[in-house]
Amino acid sequence: MSKRRPMLACEPAPSPEEERPQPGTLAGDVLAGLSATPKRLSSKYFYDAQGSRLFERIMRLPSYYPTRVEARMLRRHARDLLHALAPTGAAVELLELGSGDGRKTLALCRAWLKAGASLSYRPMDISAQALDRLGQRMAKQLPDLAVHPLCGDYFQTWPIPRAGRHQVALFLGSNLGNFAETEAVRFLRRVRAHLRAGDSLLLGLDLRKDPHTVLAAYNDPEGVTAAFNLNLLRRLNRELGMDFALDAFRHYASYCPLQGVARSFLVSQAAQAVHSTVLGTGFHFARGEVIYTEQSQKYDQAAVQSLTAQSGFAVHSWFEDPELPYALVACRALG
Ligand code: AVI
Repeated sequence: MSKRRPMLACEPAPSPEEERPQPGTLAGDVLAGLSATPKRLSSKYFYDAQGSRLFERIMRLPSYYPTRVEARMLRRHARDLLHALAPTGAAVELLELGSGDGRKTLALCRAWLKAGASLSYRPMDISAQALDRLGQRMAKQLPDLAVHPLCGDYFQTWPIPRAGRHQVALFLGSNLGNFAETEAVRFLRRVRAHLRAGDSLLLGLDLRKDPHTVLAAYNDPEGVTAAFNLNLLRRLNRELGMDFALDAFRHYASYCPLQGVARSFLVSQAAQAVHSTVLGTGFHFARGEVIYTEQSQKYDQAAVQSLTAQSGFAVHSWFEDPELPYALVACRALG
């Protein structure tokens, strides 16, 4: 039985096109993804309240090195980053895409204020709760910093650039790696479209390294990444009226050193059918069949040069961690 809104007598009947869940919505993407071969679910749907809590735990795991390494690099290179990203000494508008609770950026803002930068910080995130926590943390620890949180889709909330202010966009956490290459270029082009020529972008990107190290980051013995992956099914049960048995699927992580990509899957432990009351349809799973849920691309310099060149940026400076390959890449928007 479908849970769709009942039709009123005076309304025209929706066309089959209007009836079909639209791409870009949870229902539309799940219908398309579970009808495809191989089955796919987008990692952007990981982050409901529970998924966001599990991701916070992942970031504290000993095996999940990217968060730790990036935070260390932001502290270590804060001054050099200021010179690379805002060379003119003009006032800086720091726009962070997907700021979360802003923990890592605090050290950067502190160092930039200490270096005498005139700085305002615009954290952008879809989570109002994370932005609230960020606001409280910044008010307590950096009371002199002007913070203007923007809640919602980055490209819809992006503020009109202010005259005389240099925009510096931050996209950290190797979040770019969750996009396929064409999506990454599309995303970077949209960022470029909101910047003026000469404005800057800082990317935090995980680099190729020993495959064992990468694989361990997505296959922790504590099972937090497994719970994070499986939580996606819990979300579909709740929001799309599905009946996934969570113990009938298992997390599987892989890393391909040839392509530099970590991939996560959910593996069906038995032949089974899953139904959705909202979509009004069901899906069959063979024993051992997988749902591909996430890709995390690991980069090298050539790949980053290619992505930035295709999207209207030039790499200005490249900072790399000496212990574990990870890069902070300062880019300039081309005219
Ligand atoms: C958010 N993103 C960059 C993380 C990553 O490493 O791909 C998400 C994640 N998935 C499993 N562990 C962490």
